[in-house]
Amino acid sequence: MSENFFKENKEWSRYKDFILDYYLKPYLEKVKLLNRPILLIDCCAGPGMFDDGSKGSPLIISERIEGLYNRGVDVRGLFIEKKRGFYSKLQSNLEPYTAFAEPKHGNFTDCLEDIKQSTRTSTVFLYVDPYGIKELPFSDLAGIYGSIEEHNASVEALLNFNSPALVRCGLAALKMDTSGFDLNTDDESIPEMPGNMMAMTPAEVDAIEGGEYWRHIVSDSSLTFIQKEQAISEEYAQQMGKYFPWVCSFPIQKSYGRFPKYRLIYGTRHQDGILLMNNTMYRAREQFLNQEFASGRLFDLRPPEESKDLSMFANRLFDITKEKEPISRKNLKLEAMREFFCHYSESDYNQAVSNLLKGFEGLRLYSHSGRTRINDDVLLSTKPFGQQ
Ligand SMILES: C[S@@+](CC[C@H](N)C(=O)[O-])C[C@H]1O[C@@H](n2cnc3c(N)ncnc32)[C@H](O)[C@@H]1O
Repeated sequence: MSENFFKENKEWSRYKDFILDYYLKPYLEKVKLLNRPILLIDCCAGPGMFDDGSKGSPLIISERIEGLYNRGVDVRGLFIEKKRGFYSKLQSNLEPYTAFAEPKHGNFTDCLEDIKQSTRTSTVFLYVDPYGIKELPFSDLAGIYGSIEEHNASVEALLNFNSPALVRCGLAALKMDTSGFDLNTDDESIPEMPGNMMAMTPAEVDAIEGGEYWRHIVSDSSLTFIQKEQAISEEYAQQMGKYFPWVCSFPIQKSYGRFPKYRLIYGTRHQDGILLMNNTMYRAREQFLNQEFASGRLFDLRPPEESKDLSMFANRLFDITKEKEPISRKNLKLEAMREFFCHYSESDYNQAVSNLLKGFEGLRLYSHSGRTRINDDVLLSTKPFGQQ
């Protein structure tokens, strides 16, 4: 399977590439202002390029680094690949970028100490994109996340989290029936499923999940497979939330209504990170929905639950302001994003607030500046300032 993986870049993998690529540009522009060296680590790099010529993450990352490096910024990439054959290809694919891109042969879990050391001096972005779940041990990753607090470091992580595989492995580990859950059999995106992953012990699944919480979810017969997948993903995000104040996840589907193939889970300490990632994932989602429901059609036929509800959205923004007032526009966005992550763009937020400042469907917000055109720092309230 691993040989086949790089034959061609699958449609759903392109979303992951889009998200990585789109996010890195504004991310790098932001973190360069911290005036610390920047290190991007691709923990499961692969060969760098697919046989069909499409770029893998090492090339996507290197191209993003190149622009900044050429402007004199101290930024580099570390690309770790454990398979010798892929590593050789990676070396040659990274040749144009040797000034700032270092290929490394080995298992990324053997590099954890070095990575931890880097977080002392550098701003670190970790990208972990394994085939399945076995290579995603929570405890190892948590060692890196832990150094965030220790050194007040700037670390962000973007993980490919194969939640469906985890549910199936969990079922198998608890010796429960997995036959009713033979999903996604038409593709090879869950390669290890039939073999070594299905033979995992509960303790091995604990190590990947970062706890035993998965056991009660998986064995809860009142939950469907999809509900189990969602619950496990939410719990996993909560585990990451012990280290990152902001964690969000984005399901990658093959087509609408289908089970997610996997989720991208992102953790950051920075408010700006979550704002950037919201915009990035919003765009990926819009692209997906357009492709499913609008492309080649006269009208956008997306289902109502996928359409923006600007009235409901403005109402929620009003309610959140009322709960937290006075609240800056930025904090209002961040609060609302916990509910609406990747469903509305930042300009939707700005527009909704601007509408509310002028009066919208009987609701009215007031700005501290008294203006309706405001920036993110301006405080908002449901009562005029000075009359509170
Ligand atoms: C899904 S592919 C990565 C694809 C790559 N991110 C891309 O977009 O081109 C997973 C790669 O990670 C490698 N890998 C898996 N576990 C690893 C580990 N623990 N350390 C280093 N490489 C690993 C595999 O050999 C494989 O090449």
